[in-house]
Amino acid sequence: MEKTTMKDVVNLAQKRWFVYPGSDIYGGLANSWDYGPYGSLLKDNIRDLWKKEFIQKRTDVMMIDCSLIMNPKVWEASGHVWGFSDPLMDCKECKARWRADKIIDAHVLAGATEPEGYAGDKTDTKVLENYIASESIACPDCKACNYTDIRRFNLMLKTYLGVTDDSASLAYLRPETAQGQFVDFPQVARTSRRKLPFGIAQAGKSFRNEITPGNFIFRTREFEQMEIEFFVTPWDDDEYFQIWKSESERFFTEIVWLSKENVRFVPIKKDELPHYSKEAWDFEYQYPFGWWEIETLANRTDYDLKAHMTHSKQDMSYFDAVNNKKFIPYVIEPAMGLGRIVLASLCDAYTIEETRTYLKLDPKVAPIKVWVLPIVKKLGHLAKEVYAQLSEEFLCEYDEVSSVGKRYARMDEIGAPLCVTIDTDNYEAGNVTVRHRDSMEQEVVAIKDLNEYVRNIVK
Ligand code: GAP
Repeated sequence: MEKTTMKDVVNLAQKRWFVYPGSDIYGGLANSWDYGPYGSLLKDNIRDLWKKEFIQKRTDVMMIDCSLIMNPKVWEASGHVWGFSDPLMDCKECKARWRADKIIDAHVLAGATEPEGYAGDKTDTKVLENYIASESIACPDCKACNYTDIRRFNLMLKTYLGVTDDSASLAYLRPETAQGQFVDFPQVARTSRRKLPFGIAQAGKSFRNEITPGNFIFRTREFEQMEIEFFVTPWDDDEYFQIWKSESERFFTEIVWLSKENVRFVPIKKDELPHYSKEAWDFEYQYPFGWWEIETLANRTDYDLKAHMTHSKQDMSYFDAVNNKKFIPYVIEPAMGLGRIVLASLCDAYTIEETRTYLKLDPKVAPIKVWVLPIVKKLGHLAKEVYAQLSEEFLCEYDEVSSVGKRYARMDEIGAPLCVTIDTDNYEAGNVTVRHRDSMEQEVVAIKDLNEYVRNIVK
């Protein structure tokens, strides 16, 4: 079987209205993508499955929806104002911009010894500069070793609230949804009267001024996250970490149906852990451009609640009546990127056969479940009756444009699992023909049984 390339996936996604460049009539905006009719449905379906598995079917996770712009003090307390930055330097010869820590990592991987103290602290720019100079690490592009000083570049996107644009009105677009859950923890705990362990979840947009966005929708400056902050007693953190590891695996392989050979869990090395976590694992997908993370599962300990308690002077602790103890809960955080799961689903489903290319999307995630078409245009009124019957329950598409073969090709490329064709003879006998996307087999089904037939396949 031919190997799927990113070019294949991007071409299909754009041709079939899944995702295309944003602001296109003005020449686009670098790395800004719009989800079209099918892409936004696919994204909704994946988000709905996440909600169903982790909120609807559980009794211990609640969902909230916080502001994208929070009080800037939130980001001071969380450490994002000082810690959420990359060390950047420019090559003075060829003007390429590099992350100093990544250049050092590559040099160490090639056999050099790490700078002293580097494993624990990559934030001291002088240590990085001195090491690059002493090792004469060359620019990967032009091979010169002549760089500017390292500057720390904060990844948070800034904005100004109100009529002035001075520092007093400075605010940030949230770089993660998670801080909403932490800041709201006391209210949610109080009003819901939940006992630990319980989770607070959010799905929504986050923003990062990424230096190297790219690979289509994989790394963008505006993206959607689905994050659960699962609050546990501090002595149970390791146990719940393992539980959420299995839950994540189950979600990707049994709910979204990414193929098992394309997913793996890898531990994040101690010196690469974010400032807030004790342990973290990346759940990775094998994209055509390599293994990359779709979820980070982290044990955030009591870092965030403690930090907010110090900065806000509010009590963020929890009283455990069973053990008669007051403490700050620990947090296990499965944090997924929705756009990355959409991209993984498209790559996973992309199937090339001798005579056709199609998206073998699982019926649960497929944006359109049934493609309804009259064999000829003049039977449109009958096909629309069937469409009305099915669309009460399923997302359908009505299509009367061009030959039947071309319409089948369209539905295949959009990944609709079923196609219902209406012709006069069958219709008069109370029947339609159902074509299956994967096998291309056709079956005659009674119109009165059609919804049940479809339900059995797509639900
Ligand atoms: N609250 C923890 C947190 O935000 P993260 O690993 O930085 O952790 C979680 O982000 C997930 O969000 C990632 O695993 C990835 O799927 C997604 N994500 C992060 N940055 C992204 C970006 N620039 N573009 C698209 N998705 C991104």
